Amino acid sequence: MNKSIQWGITSGAHDASIAVIRGEDILFAAHAERSSRKKNDAYLNQTVFEQAMEYGTPRQVFWYENTAKKRLRQLWAGQYKTALWKSSPIEQMAAFDSKQNIFWAQNFGAGEAVWPAQRIKCMSHHHSHAAAGYYTSGFTDATVVVVDSIGEWETLTVWAAKGNSMHRVFSQRYPHSVGLWYSAMTQRIGLKPNEDEYILMGWAALGDPDKYYRKIMTDFVELDADKPNIRFRHNLHRGCLWWAPELNTIQDYADIAAATQRVYETLFEHILKHAVKLNRSDNVVLMGGCALNCVANPIAHRYYDRVWIMPNPGDAGSSVGCVAAYNQQHLNWTGPYLGYNIEGEYPINSVLKELDTTRMVGVANGRAEYGPRALGNRTLFADPRGADVQDLVNTVKKRQSFRPFAPVILEEHAQDYFDGCVGPYMQYTSVCKHPEKFPAITHIDGTSRVQTVNNEQHPQLYSLLRRWYESTGCPMLLNTSLNIKGEPMVDTAADAERWTRKYGVKVFTKDE
Ligand SMILES: [Fe+2]
Repeated sequence: MNKSIQWGITSGAHDASIAVIRGEDILFAAHAERSSRKKNDAYLNQTVFEQAMEYGTPRQVFWYENTAKKRLRQLWAGQYKTALWKSSPIEQMAAFDSKQNIFWAQNFGAGEAVWPAQRIKCMSHHHSHAAAGYYTSGFTDATVVVVDSIGEWETLTVWAAKGNSMHRVFSQRYPHSVGLWYSAMTQRIGLKPNEDEYILMGWAALGDPDKYYRKIMTDFVELDADKPNIRFRHNLHRGCLWWAPELNTIQDYADIAAATQRVYETLFEHILKHAVKLNRSDNVVLMGGCALNCVANPIAHRYYDRVWIMPNPGDAGSSVGCVAAYNQQHLNWTGPYLGYNIEGEYPINSVLKELDTTRMVGVANGRAEYGPRALGNRTLFADPRGADVQDLVNTVKKRQSFRPFAPVILEEHAQDYFDGCVGPYMQYTSVCKHPEKFPAITHIDGTSRVQTVNNEQHPQLYSLLRRWYESTGCPMLLNTSLNIKGEPMVDTAADAERWTRKYGVKVFTKDE
């Protein structure tokens, strides 16, 4: 087995990330935005390179997609500016070797010292997604379903995985893309495409899905009866602001959001129904940006006994995925705590004391989460009980008032409080059994996006919740990411200190 250091990189599009892998261990994986402090930063920076370098010099470097194929697609789609402008920092300073499908970094800041003339190998976009999922799943066989917007040409793929091998059994190509359609609808209701899709998903609960479901299906979608194919009647890459111009009130937008989400669920189910026929397995792995749709994800349990969604299923997770795709071997998945480390004891006593007095407290301790969710290490906790908590947390977070916060609960109590799918990474919504007691963590449709915790997964967070439960009788806390809209999550102790000063909420980096 190759035990040298390998790097995986995603950069140049949105939410750049880097992963350091040795053999089957993920030593480090982080988003560039956390160190540059620019939300969804598309480019890597010197700080994150230096953090990665602490694990040693890479012998091999992998890129998460095939840049030559992507350029061809961009040219085909008429995106001449994007295709001809060398958009990633490595590409900008690299000579491109199209014959061998590799390029090497030259004169590239840290890169020059790190890998002079080191060759970087490009993997395919969907292969990177699929590998990030399967090789972290712990499954010995699985069907892997990747649904996203667009990489090179592929927009939807299904893979058969067994042992260490994986092969594609279905592929759908641009411009037909479920992800591009969902983003176009996001833009249609006044939100930011490629960023605010989760807000559309939350907004959906406020609308009537039946009102425009048929219209959206008829105007946009063509389903193939015997294949997972989903074709769209329009190229949605440039949006659909032209669609249904008469619908422009806030209630129209809520109804469009509701119908969009319902249509997405129909399409997702269509894909799964056919995926079952394409490969025999009781296990499914869901990847691609669409696997962040926690409202639809429970549908997968209707078709498969076991479901794995790597907690960073979008493009940023492909920094792990492109290395895994090359190595074709399973990785040791120890959890999503893979980023920058803030040393010190987890602040259990300090958090409990602060919750007692102000009911809200931040934690920035241990390794930062690799993925979009704060799962206890870069988290703002609050007492979830009572009617005023949502407003209290929103004085800091300033989110849309219709969006609830998520709960983190002792695993052994989850079924007493929630009905349906729950898991350790906030990937599913389930029905809250006591919404009147916990309005801050319950959506208007009665659901919650639950994080469960056990002693193996995060012993310190588990211990904090046990002690909170012993003193209050409540086995959960409200858990939201330690950021405000438009800002990346806190990364370092210095960020935490700044946060405390700016927002007046105590953030503990260790127990005091
Ligand atoms: Fe993708």
